[in-house]
Amino acid sequence: MSSTKNSLANKAQAWSARFNEPVSELVQRYTASVGFDQRFALVDITGSLAHAEMLAKQKIISAQDLADIQKGMAQIKTEIEAGQFNWQLALEDVHLNIEARLTELIGDAGKRLHTGRSRNDQVATDLRLWLRASVDEISDSLTLLRSAFLNLAEKHAGTIMPGHTHLQVAQPITFGHHLMAYYEMFTRDTSRLADLRARFNRLPLGAAALAGTTYPIDREQVAHALDFDGICNNSLDAVSDRDFAIEFCAFASIFMMHVSRLSEELVLWLSPRFGFIDLPDRFCTGSSIMPQKKNPDVPELARGKTGRVYGDLISLLTLMKSQPLAYNKDNQEDKEPLFDAVDTVQDTLRIFGDMVPHIEVKAEVMKAAAEEGFATATDLADYLVKKGLAFRDAHEAVAHAVKACVGRNCMLTDLSLAELRFACGLDSRPELLGDDVFELLTVEGSVQSRQHAGGTAPEQVLRAIKQARSELK
Ligand code: ARG
Repeated sequence: MSSTKNSLANKAQAWSARFNEPVSELVQRYTASVGFDQRFALVDITGSLAHAEMLAKQKIISAQDLADIQKGMAQIKTEIEAGQFNWQLALEDVHLNIEARLTELIGDAGKRLHTGRSRNDQVATDLRLWLRASVDEISDSLTLLRSAFLNLAEKHAGTIMPGHTHLQVAQPITFGHHLMAYYEMFTRDTSRLADLRARFNRLPLGAAALAGTTYPIDREQVAHALDFDGICNNSLDAVSDRDFAIEFCAFASIFMMHVSRLSEELVLWLSPRFGFIDLPDRFCTGSSIMPQKKNPDVPELARGKTGRVYGDLISLLTLMKSQPLAYNKDNQEDKEPLFDAVDTVQDTLRIFGDMVPHIEVKAEVMKAAAEEGFATATDLADYLVKKGLAFRDAHEAVAHAVKACVGRNCMLTDLSLAELRFACGLDSRPELLGDDVFELLTVEGSVQSRQHAGGTAPEQVLRAIKQARSELK
């Protein structure tokens, strides 16, 4: 980015007539946003064209002015897309850079573009247009990720693993059921995104600096041209509201929180201590010192990046705290945290969308782990309850049996029927425990018996997947 010399910037700032001296170089650097708000270039042009069309239709500028503006903007767009646009720090931001170039190209018509508009409503419009396009991309990527979860869950509807609470083996579940839990989380994230999009898809232009404008503008026309669902109702709010950026970062934080939970599980499952899964080498890295290592860098980084997205949310909340109405230059600081949150979410979605279908499941290891740790103890208690024992008594009886097995270093299913009756303290009531209990104490029997909506039985998982598929379309 060149800072001045020959060019437009030398002709001084758009606002400089009121000043006796130019800003210092440090102030120029401190206050400029063009280094990062260049990302708005194309939406800035789109917004300007819609504004100019409205000005011409309302006879605020001439048809010739409009034609000149359209021609100039077409050239500027080409220059930007070709990477040939000369961005100048001295011109402060994306808006003044484009406007100055327009005037250089087409003369006076360029100077009339800003009629009835301020950079305050212009930047608020750019932000919304830019974020809207990002939200739509993210929503599509979320749909892809959700469908990757459905496919993997379908493949593993009957794959048995230990379910945990407190990271202790709790009860057997199916891996498909576990994956569908993430499907639910990402589905709620998708709906949060749609909610916030609907709230912010409104046009700020027309608010001008803060109080509106004296020209006979038609805001509805501009809103329609830019695919907004309507206009911002209040001009002060239109230029100063950044709720939508905060809402996006709140969405992003919750989404990343979900990703971090998944990541933590992937890291655990990939550890040889668990050994439940493998990931293709392209998602892992080695160690420069320990030749045997295969590190799950992608999930670890996603876990780490969650923190920076929370930081983006806190930055924006703090930025907006106590700001008096209406626009304040503080608001220029809204962009980098928002860009960072969008970029991080997009990259994370891309990489997980690519990785999830390639999670390699070691079904025998998962099943063996589910068979350890008395995961079916609750099933035994439920069995006794169905035979007539009160749940508390059943719980105690099974606890005795587990204790006996721990002492003998064996599993519940290793006991004979007589031994099990004795271990439960139920040898005097043989009618409570029959041979049919052993089928139930297997991990397969345990998951099979959870046959209700939202349960872990393979049929229920398949039903949930079918339902989800119909909603995903
Ligand atoms: N670059 C500014 C921003 O991002 C544009 C709006 C400037 N408005 C002003 N009154 N100085 O917020």
